[in-house]
Amino acid sequence: MRIIETREKLEKITADSIVIPLFQGEKPLGEVEKFSKMVSGSIYEAINLGDFKGKLYEVTSIYTHGKVSASRVFLVGAGKRGDFDSRAARNIIGAAVRRATKLNLKKIAVYLGNKIKPEEAIEGAVLANYDPGIHKTKKENSGEIEELSLIGRVDKKVIKKALIIAESTNWIRKMIHEPGNIVSPKEMVEQAKKLATEYKLDLEVIDEKDAAKRGFGAFAGIAKGSDEPSFIVCLKYKGGGKETLGVVGKGVTFDSGGISLKRAEKMHEMKMDMAGAAVCLGFMKVVGELRPKINVTMVTPFTENLPGGHALKPGDILTSLSGKTIEILSTDAEGRVVLADALTYTQKLGVTKIIDLATLTGAVEIALGSEAAAILGNKETFMKQIEEAATKAGERLWQLPIYPEHKELIKNEIADLANIPSSRGAGVIAGAVFLQEFVDDKIPWAHLDIAATAWLDSETPYLAKGPTGFGLRTLVELIDAG
Ligand code: BES
Ligand code: MN
Ligand code: ZN
Repeated sequence: MRIIETREKLEKITADSIVIPLFQGEKPLGEVEKFSKMVSGSIYEAINLGDFKGKLYEVTSIYTHGKVSASRVFLVGAGKRGDFDSRAARNIIGAAVRRATKLNLKKIAVYLGNKIKPEEAIEGAVLANYDPGIHKTKKENSGEIEELSLIGRVDKKVIKKALIIAESTNWIRKMIHEPGNIVSPKEMVEQAKKLATEYKLDLEVIDEKDAAKRGFGAFAGIAKGSDEPSFIVCLKYKGGGKETLGVVGKGVTFDSGGISLKRAEKMHEMKMDMAGAAVCLGFMKVVGELRPKINVTMVTPFTENLPGGHALKPGDILTSLSGKTIEILSTDAEGRVVLADALTYTQKLGVTKIIDLATLTGAVEIALGSEAAAILGNKETFMKQIEEAATKAGERLWQLPIYPEHKELIKNEIADLANIPSSRGAGVIAGAVFLQEFVDDKIPWAHLDIAATAWLDSETPYLAKGPTGFGLRTLVELIDAG
């Protein structure tokens, strides 16, 4: 998407639509008031007749009858003034752009006024512009708008950064959207290699055989059920300073559940089980572009989770890289098992703090729905820092506790740990306490369970159904905060 900055008067702007955000119960003021009068008062008519109420994400088309250069206006509801925040700002522009894509419009102009920051408009627009028909040979309409004009004063650097973040989010979304036969572990390695070359990152790829030899027994145990080769990928960015942030992502390119097979219903969506790893790769891409003065080490295990003659069986015992033994009670709780070795390895590489992102449990949807991801960890201050970054990024995180008693959840008679709890409750916490067993208490660590936020079950006014790229913007805000 081309981004153009313009200080032209509203009536002089040529676009398929000018987007004008208005709060609920408020009328146009200042230049927008002047402009409204020029278009035969039809904006007032829509408001006075109650066709446009200003409710959040409402979009009403107003036609300009050749009175001004643009052929139409989208009045976009910004909701109640008191409830308005950065998230709303981004999403109302998204709502307008999604309407535009459905009408096959190509050039959109956004009136920023003092409501919308340029980065919010760009992010909202680029995310809304994502076309989910990635494998359609004929586009229903050609979708995607081509040009976004921002009306107001805009810093070029701000445009560049917002575009990098938003386009990387769509890059992540596409990877998550691709099915298992296209985005295999091998393909994820190819993507990592490309990033390493393009941004001069250190790359280490550990293949399955090597992993087994070097003691990644937990990872290898899951990997052996699949005929596709599996890998552990590490990327390192060195921007300076003493701290190194470790980012770890679950990269299960398809999760059938293994021998503990999932139900058929919606199983196809388990191609999204590599969303955490995709966000990590996207983060390395952003870091490679922005080159911040920090160090980042990424570790992502890539494998499928399949049943078969070589597959792991319930009751099998695995010895992890840390030396701890795990009794596999469900082969469907595979994410925590592969992450166990990834976490151990990340610490061997000398990181000073760790964030892991994983589509780990269905339970997180029961707990929080799809509005927020769960955050759990071992240091309150580190979690608070991440939560603040998330708020700034317009992503929601909600903390769940890990009490000492929760350790009981993964107790086992014959091995050090069980991979699932023996009772039904606290599924998200059980996942986190399991992971915590593989993290040194002295290293601040946070786990983000993104199982319900990585994928939208139905479209919203501002986003298509499917992958969201959730987590990237939080990570970027976090490194911005220092
Ligand atoms: N990949 C799933 C979790 C998941 C569920 C992601 C729904 C996205 C949407 C994970 O590997 C899994 O199967 N978890 C089990 C854990 C259980 C066996 C303790 C689950 O949540 O059912
Ligand atoms: Mn599973
Ligand atoms: Zn899984």
